[in-house]
Amino acid sequence: MKSEQIRKEWSKFWEDKTRNHKQLSPAPLVPQGDKTSLFTVAGMQQLVPYLSGKPHEDGTRLYNIQKCVRTPDIDEIGDERHLTMFEMMWNWSLGDYFKKESITWSVEFLHNVCKIPLEKIWATIFLWNKDLGLEEDKEARKILNECGISDSRIRAMEENWWGPAGEVGPCGPDCEFYVDRWEEFGKDDWLLDENDRYTEIWNNVFMEFYKNQDKSFTPLPAQNVDTGMGLERLVMILQWQKTIFETDLFEWIIKVIENQTWLKYPPYTVDEDKLNKEEKWITRRFRIITDHIRWSLFLISDGVLPSNEWRWYVLRRLIRRAFYNMYLLNKDIDYKKTVKEIYKAVEEKYGQFRTNLQNNETLSDIIITEMEKFERTISKWLKLLEEIIKTIEDVNSDTIEWEVIFKLYDTYGFPFELTKEIAEEKELKVDEKWFKKYMQEAKNKSKANAKWVFSRWIDWAKYLDWIKPTEFVWYDNLELENPKLLKEIEIDWQKIYVFNKTPFYAEWGWQTADTWEIELDDGTVVKVQDVKKVAGVYLHFVE
Ligand code: ALA
Repeated sequence: MKSEQIRKEWSKFWEDKTRNHKQLSPAPLVPQGDKTSLFTVAGMQQLVPYLSGKPHEDGTRLYNIQKCVRTPDIDEIGDERHLTMFEMMWNWSLGDYFKKESITWSVEFLHNVCKIPLEKIWATIFLWNKDLGLEEDKEARKILNECGISDSRIRAMEENWWGPAGEVGPCGPDCEFYVDRWEEFGKDDWLLDENDRYTEIWNNVFMEFYKNQDKSFTPLPAQNVDTGMGLERLVMILQWQKTIFETDLFEWIIKVIENQTWLKYPPYTVDEDKLNKEEKWITRRFRIITDHIRWSLFLISDGVLPSNEWRWYVLRRLIRRAFYNMYLLNKDIDYKKTVKEIYKAVEEKYGQFRTNLQNNETLSDIIITEMEKFERTISKWLKLLEEIIKTIEDVNSDTIEWEVIFKLYDTYGFPFELTKEIAEEKELKVDEKWFKKYMQEAKNKSKANAKWVFSRWIDWAKYLDWIKPTEFVWYDNLELENPKLLKEIEIDWQKIYVFNKTPFYAEWGWQTADTWEIELDDGTVVKVQDVKKVAGVYLHFVE
């Protein structure tokens, strides 16, 4: 099924008499009236006021396909399933139907419309939360069973909770659908997380709570349903492709890059490990360019322009990264033509659904102007880097010092991640730790740092390395033995500590103070600003 057909089926399904949903206009990528989110991360954001009882003029049953951004995925770009921007197919019940209809209709869409065999559909449900007095979602389990999803394909997990999208807002337990793709894609086990074989596809959130600023929860006036399915992933599954980049949504962009670089995107292969080093390298660059230019076009069409701060800086980074990756593929690339051609491919696929992408060459012109500026600095920079590398080699070192990286960043405006990529290609290390420390200080001084936003979509498993769940202790017991620091993580300047035990109750906290202190075994006092929990591990966000 072509992506256009899938979009049509989606509308037909929800507008059908039995379901009777109304299509809602999609929101722009820049959230309106929500200062805690950089970008629109979910379809539900525009509906927040209607969860507190305000009637919606289009009724209580809504659906759409919403463009969403999950920036923490930016470093994952280049793998098979992640995009920085994706389109979320969602349906909503505003205090109307609840679990029964929501789950049944999801299975119906996947099975009857998309023709995915029932035995290939798996699901996770909410396990429990002691403080909210919530137990395993037996109702969801029963409905899934009735729909033909037996217990052997259902897992109950504590993490099955979604939201809020920002720091406060509606949230609730969820039921997530996975599709078991064919066996060559992976081991015959389910890792309770997505992998090549089991792809997470659709999330049905049963929104019953509101998370307040003091981290407490209040029941919402009505029970709502918020679901979201990744369009690109569904297309990948239905087109029987291994990766999202091989689907009809992206194939024309890939062709443009092939034509303009004179390189071949490595052929489809079930096992990506079979690609040789060079093919893997090319694959990654192709995917980065595809993702970044597509997203940049969407962002600009929603009024974002490249600049030095916050969401504007994200766009600048995307454009520069795309440029740099083109340059790496072929130093003589006609990048202007490439961007224009990519715009045409994007317009062709999306224009009829996203009208501000139609007949709007200004979008590609803005990217090109930004690239021109970058091109002028990149040549200066490469020359400088050559000299640096020569000096490093002269002294038999293999590391670029942080002062040098900072100068490149500060004086020439080169994003750190690009310096790192070039250095690594030359098999040089970069003194990242000190660079980041220095950057943090510089940021603190200029007070220019945007607040780091926690996200469930960060690949926490990678950072936590299957560390054991944290033991929760009351403050009184804590004095007997101080907690031990097990892991120190740093993501985008935010420091996160994991201890063997903690007195902070994540998510449902009773704490109201801005920061709390915790004394470590060696007597050091650490200031904790916030605590979140992932897979039973408590993450302490420290200053
Ligand atoms: N709001 C839910 C999500 O983004 C559906 O996964």
